[in-house]
Amino acid sequence: MAVQRTFSIIKPDAVAKNVIGEITSRFEKAGLRVVASKMVQLSEREAGGFYAEHKERPFYGDLVSFMTSGPVIVQVLEGEDAIAKNRELMGATNPKEAAAGTIRADFAESIDENAVHGSDSEAAAAREIAFFFSSTELCDRIR
Ligand code: PPS
Repeated sequence: MAVQRTFSIIKPDAVAKNVIGEITSRFEKAGLRVVASKMVQLSEREAGGFYAEHKERPFYGDLVSFMTSGPVIVQVLEGEDAIAKNRELMGATNPKEAAAGTIRADFAESIDENAVHGSDSEAAAAREIAFFFSSTELCDRIR
């Protein structure tokens, strides 16, 4: 399986719950390595741009409002099959449908405030990483 990079957000609800470390620890225990990380307060313009593909969906306004309600942690995770592995760790979008032991089952309250985001494809990962990180902020693979 190829080594990949994926993009992760620990959302405002999880930051407010003080579980940044617990969530990051799950990535690390699953064999993913943090190769870039920072805390940011998104503006409406940034959050709107990041979720632009969902602009026509009914929850778009609430999503932008939630994502700007407090700071988030943006990270780049690297490892074998990182995109699928991270999606598995996160669990289903709706925490009520998320498998036991997943991040959303354990830390999220609702589909609107669901603790984490993870890229769903290689194209999305490349776009999302470039949205938040410059090339100098991305560390080479650490061995
Ligand atoms: S996917 O596969 O993550 O794009 O899933 P999707 O259902 O298309 O969700 C898109 C993002 O919107 C967030 N969100 C909601 N989805 C569905 N219903 C409601 N009410 C809703 N509110 C917010 C959902 O968490 C996805 O965000 P990310 O950050 O990609 O997980």
